[in-house]
Amino acid sequence: MVRPSGPLFGSVNIKGAKNSVLKLMAATLLAEGTHHLHNVPDITDVKIVAELLRRCGVSVSFAGEGHVIIEVPPTEKIVPRASLELVSKIRASVVVMGPLLARCNWVELAQPGGDDFGSRPIDYHIEGFSALGATFSERDGYLFGRTEGLTGSRVVLEFPSHTATDNILMAAVLAEGRTVIENAAREPEVIDLASMLISMGADIRGAGTSRIEVQGVPKLSPADHWVIPDRVEAASFLAAVAVAGGEVFLRGAREDHMEMLLRKVASVGVHIETTPQGILAKSEGKLKAVDVSTLPYPGVATDYQPLIVTMLSVADGTSVVSENLFSGRFRYVEELRKMGADIFTDGHHVVIRGTPRLKGARVQASDIRAGVALVVAALVADGETEISGVRHIDRGYERIEERLRALGADIERRSAQDLTGCADVG
Ligand code: EPU
Repeated sequence: MVRPSGPLFGSVNIKGAKNSVLKLMAATLLAEGTHHLHNVPDITDVKIVAELLRRCGVSVSFAGEGHVIIEVPPTEKIVPRASLELVSKIRASVVVMGPLLARCNWVELAQPGGDDFGSRPIDYHIEGFSALGATFSERDGYLFGRTEGLTGSRVVLEFPSHTATDNILMAAVLAEGRTVIENAAREPEVIDLASMLISMGADIRGAGTSRIEVQGVPKLSPADHWVIPDRVEAASFLAAVAVAGGEVFLRGAREDHMEMLLRKVASVGVHIETTPQGILAKSEGKLKAVDVSTLPYPGVATDYQPLIVTMLSVADGTSVVSENLFSGRFRYVEELRKMGADIFTDGHHVVIRGTPRLKGARVQASDIRAGVALVVAALVADGETEISGVRHIDRGYERIEERLRALGADIERRSAQDLTGCADVG
């Protein structure tokens, strides 16, 4: 339940990046021994990947304050399988494929389905592993991958897919010889994964550029790694202060990871100051229209899109937002309309005519970012907004309501039921 609360003030610690930590946890499969991950957010997706690793024979323990200890057994004790039960909960479980193929020479994975924002195939992953010498077959909804031993190769991605880049990179580090990934994703989380793999003994060059070169090594050692801050979480708090007004310091947020977004947010009318410790956002709640297109990094990320549309719903003027990554990622727009937003959808574009305030309504979160965008919208909606499906938000945000409340938001969690369960997005 959210009520309009006026301006937000204070400081919020930005947690570790969901879209990095899930891959880092999978990467631990590459080396026997005890790994330490720090700055791990307490979110549902991390718990699901922990369960996935446990079913592979790995021990995962949460030592508190974001410290996770992962003990990976010798190869013969690893069970390289990901069941439908877990894969259907989290699509990102596909990232165990690369490490398991590299380590065990086979993998069995339930076929990930579509999700709440459209079809998300894994053909680039499969093509990449095939180039490294794996073969695949399908039976009863499961995908079986096998190899006599991966060998380095040239992989050209049709699109700079984030998770395909991560997955192929993890397969290549233990492959024999040299792999080159062309048209690689350049996301900061890819760099984070590469830097952890390098600290484990991998030979990787070019992470963060479109061409990643990997010289395979026979063995890696366990990692001790700090997860980078979550740029989408930082953007979510930024959107909250943009619409509600106020002054909030996003402690730990990295300007160099979200440059393009910060430029857009500044042109909307939010004052941004960057420091080595984080980002200060100030807003009077008076926003201006702007046009935005989502693109792979370093462009404006698709994950920011629901937050941007929400900000523009209360901006002065008409904006056009184009979604270029996920065809179905405008489903939440219907919920914003229930709150009085004036938005028209046309294919992968939305036209938003800004209105000064929204109105409270009963709305439903359909995925992580859509859910948090509804929370942001509710901060400037007169009356009460009841958001159901909060479990989606919990997949990617640690105690969002407590942290917003600490900044002055009038928000409470009413149903304990929303703390459990999960769905397939992210
Ligand atoms: N694609 C294919 N085939 C593939 C892989 C991707 O056609 O084999 C297409 C997708 O359908 C999409 C485009 O390529 O149209 C880009 O998808 P990408 O693979 O880059 O997305 P992803 O790696 O599956 C990650 C994040 C998403 C984020 C996207 C884009 C994780 C776990 N997820 O997904 O995060 O939106 O990159 O940056 O890293 C979220 O956090 O809420 C979330 C959805």
